[in-house]
Amino acid sequence: MGEIVAPAAGGERGLLLDKRSDRRERQHGPLGEAPDSRHSNEAPPQPQPGPLGLYVHVPFCASTCDFCAFYQVAPSAELVRGYLAGVAAETALVEWTQPVTTVFWGGGTPGLLAPADLRRLGATVRSRLGGEPEEWTIELAPASVTAARLDALREIGVTRVSLGAQSFQPALLDALGRAHTREQIFRAYERVRAAGFASVNLDLMFALPGQDEAAWEGDLAEALALAPDHLSTYCLTFEEDTKLWVKLAQGRVKLDPEREARLYEATWARLADAGYAQYEISNFARPGHACRHNLNTWRMHGWVGLGPSAASQHGGERGANPADLARWQAGLARGERATEDRVALTPALLAEDALIFGLRMNAGVDLAALRARFPTAPWENLAAPIARLAADGLAESADDTLHITARGRLLADAVGAELIGVLTAPP
Ligand SMILES: C[S@@+](CC[C@H](N)C(=O)[O-])C[C@H]1O[C@@H](n2cnc3c(N)ncnc32)[C@H](O)[C@@H]1O
Ligand code: SF4
Repeated sequence: MGEIVAPAAGGERGLLLDKRSDRRERQHGPLGEAPDSRHSNEAPPQPQPGPLGLYVHVPFCASTCDFCAFYQVAPSAELVRGYLAGVAAETALVEWTQPVTTVFWGGGTPGLLAPADLRRLGATVRSRLGGEPEEWTIELAPASVTAARLDALREIGVTRVSLGAQSFQPALLDALGRAHTREQIFRAYERVRAAGFASVNLDLMFALPGQDEAAWEGDLAEALALAPDHLSTYCLTFEEDTKLWVKLAQGRVKLDPEREARLYEATWARLADAGYAQYEISNFARPGHACRHNLNTWRMHGWVGLGPSAASQHGGERGANPADLARWQAGLARGERATEDRVALTPALLAEDALIFGLRMNAGVDLAALRARFPTAPWENLAAPIARLAADGLAESADDTLHITARGRLLADAVGAELIGVLTAPP
């Protein structure tokens, strides 16, 4: 999967930084790569104060979209039964040290589970929350949104729905291999709104094969007409081994970085005019509707990840579950979480990731607060890269707050490349 230094998953495009890193952190770890590829000369792992997130990966989809590399399989009654038992077993192995602040069910398509299974998963999760979370998100695909599922979700305490629309244009939905129609998006959205969730997000994708400016403007207009509380706009990443990746390799679709930049810039203006503030590279919200779970993750607070392929940053280490149902279950049957790519969470590593991911956010990074949070990190190393970023017009600082410029947002991979290793490299 992609990472900050080689942003376009597979390094194919290189315009925007790891645009879906909110998802990748949850699934694969903050940098989307084996996190221990960086070094630190600090040994002792630190307990992590602050909020705690809970990510549950539900690895089932009705079909595989042509662009998607998230771990998922076609569901069967037996697989779902085994998965639900696995999550229950995994929750019992986690050391729950504090109440859970936010919950996020992603996938895959969590909304594909039958209402009774949603209730069962909800009960498993609720038993470990230690109170009512501030936010509980679920990802739904339009084709599987039913009133019965929404009732179950309201009942267990879900507060936020994220609906994967991607596009409203039949030809583009077709080009993505999506299993839904534009009519299904409208119907699903209407049902979600009628069910009364506190916050509703729509996922859209841009820079799709055959999508010109007018088509993207059209998709934005249709999304805005629905008045969601939040919009995630993801630039298409060609993920290795997907159908679109193969088409790219065969020359049947082409990359066009200039078009990506034009569409991305057009998005900022259009959504700002409509009252949606951009708060992160790919995320826009009406006041009060930014996704708290993702904000806490980008700030490098802790989270527990359950389910195959889910990453965790908890108990002094970071790691990921195997991206395979059988291997994940085999570990649980042995009474252990088969965590892979484990790395100790040193202050330097957390400080560096809080810096890199903090810069994804429009608010930027309060360097004084970060220094106070991680006082032992080698902050003196930061002056030179910050000066270089400023000289290149990619970042600016004022009052000890560092943030990327509009140019930096378009070239966010370069920003990440400049900062990676700055606090963690051996002396
Ligand atoms: C796991 S999917 C969402 C949930 C649900 N399965 C669905 O597709 O509606 C999360 C989101 O990631 C985005 N996404 C997935 N793969 C992507 C890719 N290769 N490039 C850009 N965005 C991608 C899509 O917008 C998608 O809605
Ligand atoms: S985009 Fe969503 S529905 Fe499509 S394969 Fe990926 S997880 Fe499944």
